[in-house]
Amino acid sequence: MNPEEFRAFGHRLIDWIADYRAGTEKRPVMSTVEPGSLRAQLPQTPPDAPESLDAVLRDVEKILMPGLSHWQHPRFFGYFPSNGELSSVLGDYLSTGLGVLGLSWQSSPALTEVEEVTTDWLRQMVGLSDKWSGVIQDTASTSTLVALISARERISNYSLVKGGLQKVDTPLVVYVSAHSHSSVDKAALLAGFGRDHVRIVATDAAYGMRPDALADAIRADLLAGRKPCAVVATAGTTTTTAFDPVGALAEVAREHGLWLHVDAAMAGSAMILPECRSLWEGIEGADSLVLNPHKWMGVAFDCSVYYVRDAEHLVRVMSTNPSYLRTAVDEKVKNLRDWGIPLGRRFRALKLWFLIREQGVTGLQARLRRDLANAQWLRSAVESTPHWRVLAPVRLQTVCVRHEPEGVAGEELDRHTRAWAEALNRSGAAYVTPATLDGRWMVRVSIGALLTERPHVEALWEAMKAAADEA
Ligand SMILES: Cc1ncc(COP(=O)(O)O)c(C=O)c1O
Repeated sequence: MNPEEFRAFGHRLIDWIADYRAGTEKRPVMSTVEPGSLRAQLPQTPPDAPESLDAVLRDVEKILMPGLSHWQHPRFFGYFPSNGELSSVLGDYLSTGLGVLGLSWQSSPALTEVEEVTTDWLRQMVGLSDKWSGVIQDTASTSTLVALISARERISNYSLVKGGLQKVDTPLVVYVSAHSHSSVDKAALLAGFGRDHVRIVATDAAYGMRPDALADAIRADLLAGRKPCAVVATAGTTTTTAFDPVGALAEVAREHGLWLHVDAAMAGSAMILPECRSLWEGIEGADSLVLNPHKWMGVAFDCSVYYVRDAEHLVRVMSTNPSYLRTAVDEKVKNLRDWGIPLGRRFRALKLWFLIREQGVTGLQARLRRDLANAQWLRSAVESTPHWRVLAPVRLQTVCVRHEPEGVAGEELDRHTRAWAEALNRSGAAYVTPATLDGRWMVRVSIGALLTERPHVEALWEAMKAAADEA
């Protein structure tokens, strides 16, 4: 494709996307295609001869679109908001169009320096002190893996340059809660801790990790001859958006020399609102932190920002320095390959830079405050309706609810909950996520898509009541 063909088709594709975004609301939110039905419509072998992109775009419309659930839909209340503000979409295009790679500072100086600037802007936006340095990773899963590898290397005095974990005699232990995200478990296993050394620390009635239970678990491991290594606290759990008490956990971690990583993947965006920052009070006592601008904040997926207080330690753990990557300026610059796992990195900072500049901090704050108010509206509507219950404190934009008809309990209640949620999702009117809490099914309503206004939340509530009455 030459630049002129790109220009012509590119304009059409942008128009197509703009029309898609303008008309998302007319589509059913959730795809209801059967497994394998898309594959069956596509050729099983690649085309021998070139095809026109018109034909490709026709297939996007006809075959792919029915197979998509629409995350940018104003009645998308599933999982978590994964907002791709259009300004950040353009930043993403620019990154791909430029096609530059950051293998070292010298391989694309602007790529590194815009990343330094934007991650520092974000640091200021969420109220962190200047003791923190940030780097963009693909996802929170990667950031948490990097955190746990860093924790392992600190406690084992850089085992990786010696015999690795195979020479560490005392098992290292990680502490999480039952409400930690599955990516934390995965990171602990991949970082070599082993299932036997991932401790599930008890939580309180609001689903936050109990510092006293953490201290007890650490003492028990010490007595048994194991080495406590790291705590992963969650600021905004996936199921209920609960907050572990970061400050109190930091005190316990400090007392025993443990690494404290804070997973604020989803709720970190809320910290651009000063009134929300008490929810992660004590954050300055952590060693590392991840937050995902690719969720509620509005950066098109993927863009996860990992912050550390001891950047030197991170670089010591992650650095590789083959001769072909060395440059004359290495002493004066950041080589971001030494701040994470991949060598090659794309210019992801552009989409964060575009978003922050186009929306301004106040624009982003206003949208998040709108969503917080919508969540409180729904909480209050549910609470004031007979046979409906809100199951967890509504700290931010997630509302966990259950319809509990008279005389329906246990497994019958589970069946009822799953039935009305499934009926609501299949109707195309909205998309919510059923999940278990305290061993029983309930429904999570995660508010915060870019286009979701109060009337959409009101319509959702009416649709929920109708679905529950009919189930
Ligand atoms: C609390 C929390 N941590 C981690 C993740 C994983 O995020 P990612 O998809 O960026 O790995 C999520 C998102 O689903 C989350 O809610």
